[in-house]
Amino acid sequence: MTQTFGWGILGPGRIAARFATDLARLPQARRVAVGSRDASRAQAFAAEHGFERAYGSYEALVSDPEVQAVYVATPHPFHAEHTRLCLEHGKAVLCEKPMAVNARQAREMAACARANGAFLMEAMWSRFNPVMAEVRRWLHQGAIGEVRLVTADFGFRTAWNPQGRLLDLNLAGGALLDVGVYVASLASMVYGQQPKTLSASAHLGETGVDEQTAMLFTYPNGALAQLFCAIRTATVGEARLYGTEGHIHIPEFWRATQATLYRPGQEPQRITGEAGYHFEAAEVMACVQRGERESAVMPLDESVAILETMDRVRSLIGLTYPMD
Ligand SMILES: NC(=O)c1ccc[n+]([C@@H]2O[C@H](COP(=O)([O-])OP(=O)(O)OC[C@H]3O[C@@H](n4cnc5c(N)ncnc54)[C@H](OP(=O)(O)O)[C@@H]3O)[C@@H](O)[C@H]2O)c1
Repeated sequence: MTQTFGWGILGPGRIAARFATDLARLPQARRVAVGSRDASRAQAFAAEHGFERAYGSYEALVSDPEVQAVYVATPHPFHAEHTRLCLEHGKAVLCEKPMAVNARQAREMAACARANGAFLMEAMWSRFNPVMAEVRRWLHQGAIGEVRLVTADFGFRTAWNPQGRLLDLNLAGGALLDVGVYVASLASMVYGQQPKTLSASAHLGETGVDEQTAMLFTYPNGALAQLFCAIRTATVGEARLYGTEGHIHIPEFWRATQATLYRPGQEPQRITGEAGYHFEAAEVMACVQRGERESAVMPLDESVAILETMDRVRSLIGLTYPMD
């Protein structure tokens, strides 16, 4: 297959490097251009990752006619502004998670995509890994009956850097938006809805952001989700989905390479697969080529609804950001 689909990278930072490495694995993906606030950073990134052109501004990147889709990889507070810039130039957008800082911004982004007839998807890459796709098939087939409880955690211990993206309130730092979005998105994927009621407890540290947050979601039929996220406490990062007829265990669910289905009286069924950022990129290309403006796997209204849930959690734990 020839390289027929042009990609641009906006904000060549840490995650962009990992995304670009995996993008190179898709034969159809053409690595067209990189846009940075600094031309030399764009050039260095383009050279390292095999992109054809480098621009010293985001405006120049989105003006390149050969860029069809832009991967927005700036810190959360800039997702709304940078996504809008791309959409208004007619580009498809794959925007890093969380889609925005709050639901208001996410709603505006979804409206902007629809007004411009352009594709937009939150880069919730976990959903596109083949193991997670198979877990969804198990759930749809009723392999564990009715799901009654989801437990999931995602915590890591970042170094103490108060000016860094993870701890700085002005960069919408904290566990909930950085990794809590993975556990909230998993619960949303499993139950297909947001919680009816929720409770949460958090530790807001010295810089004012949540260093760890525990959440308990309840759904109309009495199902539950018990979720935990942290940026200063490392956890194993696993998910368990318990149903009336069995359960599913997903180690490192956010980058799942295996999952096991347990059913009473049956041998456990284990599946494996690789994880990577190219699966979400392939989804963007497939949707755009079919003329679709959003993905059925990670729909826009669901990304907005997840941020509404995050807003509810934040109001319970007393966490507000300057951009709210
Ligand atoms: N999917 C995943 O596995 C994953 C993993 C980590 C992070 N993420 C998400 O990806 C996003 C970026 O995270 P990251 O860790 O890659 O961030 P980062 O390296 O700190 O920043 C990414 C880039 O954003 C640009 N930027 C634009 N305005 C900025 C500003 N005012 N302050 C700082 N940087 C600015 C910078 O590029 P230029 O200045 O060169 O333009 C910077 O290199 C976050 O929303 C995060 O949640 C996703």
